[in-house]
Amino acid sequence: MELKGKTAIVTGSARGIGFGIARAFAKAEANVVISDMNLDSAADAARTIESEGGVALPFKANVTARAELDAMVAATVARFGALDILVNNAGIESTPSLLKDITEEQWDRVISVNLKGVFLCCQAVIPQMAKQGGGRIININSLAGRRMTFFGSADYTASKHGGIGLTQHLAWELADSRITVNAICPGAVLTPLAEMHTTPEYREMVTKRLIPLGRWCMPEDIAGAAIFLASDAAALVTGQAIDVDGGVMTGFGEDLRPIIRQRMEEEKAKAAQKAARGA
Ligand SMILES: NC(=O)c1ccc[n+]([C@@H]2O[C@H](COP(=O)([O-])OP(=O)(O)OC[C@H]3O[C@@H](n4cnc5c(N)ncnc54)[C@H](O)[C@@H]3O)[C@@H](O)[C@H]2O)c1
Repeated sequence: MELKGKTAIVTGSARGIGFGIARAFAKAEANVVISDMNLDSAADAARTIESEGGVALPFKANVTARAELDAMVAATVARFGALDILVNNAGIESTPSLLKDITEEQWDRVISVNLKGVFLCCQAVIPQMAKQGGGRIININSLAGRRMTFFGSADYTASKHGGIGLTQHLAWELADSRITVNAICPGAVLTPLAEMHTTPEYREMVTKRLIPLGRWCMPEDIAGAAIFLASDAAALVTGQAIDVDGGVMTGFGEDLRPIIRQRMEEEKAKAAQKAARGA
């Protein structure tokens, strides 16, 4: 599938899943805007893509800052003359906690980046896409947007459920403008960050208990679905949430509460050790 001549903005694409999507789009011959709050990493990511023969523009934008998003769209159109695809990928995890321990500050941060950020990015791109006669919006959601999958993440789960609601709503609202809006729900993805925060034993346990296809997703797996949704092949697909999870969602009978409670204790112990070192 090719995206020749198309221009895509991928938010949070300096690393992880977003970078995987931007890189795959560039290989499919799209122009890509590496939009991220971290400009140095975005510039590094753009250099990698250009070294592979792609076309990439790094841009600094925080998805919670409307003015920066308007500037991102203006810079995209100034450089490439059009904007065809938006991938709302930027997102943050929450610290695993029971509801009673989630601070208001943590709740606001997670909802602000994961949900309000999608709303603001959509508002920023829609006028340009409508002017061009159509476009594609792809929201990188999560299995947490479909079911209560991650015990101890009420804030993250609420933010991602909101993202699915927004996807379905916008699919109807933007149909007249020929803008399709879909979500991709990744399962466990082996990004460098996930590798840093989990042990091989934990990953093996998750694989054995939850993933029928027997391995974690790689960013390239998520990119494959994104390319499909951005391509002509998906012209009539809108309002959908596609699970890319190795089959996790077909089962999910497992009660992970004891394991996650153990993780919470480990995180607390780590934080206490860090605080003691700082004291
Ligand atoms: N990694 C997984 O297993 C997994 C599973 C399901 C869903 N997801 C979703 O996929 C998306 C990407 O996850 P990832 O694991 O690649 O994350 P990551 O932390 O590796 O990368 C996120 C990128 O987004 C950027 N970013 C963070 N907040 C931002 C903001 N406010 N404005 C602009 N940029 C910002 C970061 O600088 C970083 O470059 C997220 O929406 C996440 O919820 C991830």
